[in-house]
Amino acid sequence: MAKGEVHSQCAGYTLSVPNVQSLATSLDKSAQIPERYVRPEAQADPIARNNEIELPVIDLAKLIDPEFSEEEAAKLHFTCQEWGFFQLVNHGVPEELIEGLKANTLEFFNKPLEEKMVYKQENDGTLQGYGQAFVMSEEQKLDWSDLFYVMTRPITLRNMKFWPTSPSTFRDNIDRYSFELTKLASCLWQYIAKNLGVATEVFAQLFKDHPQGMRFNYYPPCPEADKVIGVSPHSDATGFSILLQINDVQGLQIRKDGEWIAVSALPNAFIVNLGDITEVLSNGLYKSIEHRAMINTENPRISLVAFHGPDNSIMLQPLPEVVGDGKLNYGSMSYQELMKAFFDKKLEGKSIIDKLKLFN
Ligand code: OGA
Ligand code: NI
Repeated sequence: MAKGEVHSQCAGYTLSVPNVQSLATSLDKSAQIPERYVRPEAQADPIARNNEIELPVIDLAKLIDPEFSEEEAAKLHFTCQEWGFFQLVNHGVPEELIEGLKANTLEFFNKPLEEKMVYKQENDGTLQGYGQAFVMSEEQKLDWSDLFYVMTRPITLRNMKFWPTSPSTFRDNIDRYSFELTKLASCLWQYIAKNLGVATEVFAQLFKDHPQGMRFNYYPPCPEADKVIGVSPHSDATGFSILLQINDVQGLQIRKDGEWIAVSALPNAFIVNLGDITEVLSNGLYKSIEHRAMINTENPRISLVAFHGPDNSIMLQPLPEVVGDGKLNYGSMSYQELMKAFFDKKLEGKSIIDKLKLFN
């Protein structure tokens, strides 16, 4: 893509709404929260089990070790079909970098509001910067979170005015992390391609230039935590997403077999989830699972999600190698059109991908 063009992964508009971190700070423990954040569905559709479950674990060191690769790749294939979500351990991203980035992120969100607002979203047709997303109307219920989003790849599309200069190592750490995750994503795509019986070049072409965006989510504690939702239920409109919990506070829930379950992450693991693009490419063999983030009364929770999407110009449709002589389960749509539909409405389950489904 040429400089100046907007990649579909960050294109969109949102209404600006109050900063939730400041709102939360202003409320005391017995306060009632504003009506716009009260979500009846949080109580009507709670988690099924109170105990947290541990997601399947994929070990990258085994995946790339010739002796264990086949076994681990089979586990990956099974996990992509049954869960669409897994933890990745031995991922090879230097711990020192992760620790640095965690410290930077905490320091950034702990700055006074005015300092963060230097990086606020600008209604420039991209969703980059500090603010919120998916707010389409003044009546819409709101998520209990703030976010900070930057497009990190292709690097020609970086808009440095949104990259914080303080803490002083933040930019460099975002850049290094972006590179490390890009290598990791390429490596995972190779195994996913192999598992799907598709030439690795096909995936390399679909994910050319490694489009990648990073979303830092800040979920403040809430005096009425059981009435709010941190991030509304949705599936990610990406190839896959790699989530890092910045401060070891859990809150992610996934919808498994119709029920919400809370997931907990191992301390040094990434949580990887397949997105809508992968569901369509795999003709539904792999699932893009609905998830949401919930809030607690005591501690802020911070996560960093790196979205890995396809090249902006692709036509999205199931890969012929996967469909074979079988039934085609999804129609086709340009990626740009799909993303426009995704960002033009509030977050709502898997409704975007359902548009492409040929059968229900
Ligand atoms: C997201 C997301 C969940 C979390 O940013 O797309 O699903 O736990 N976040 O922060
Ligand atoms: Ni998500």
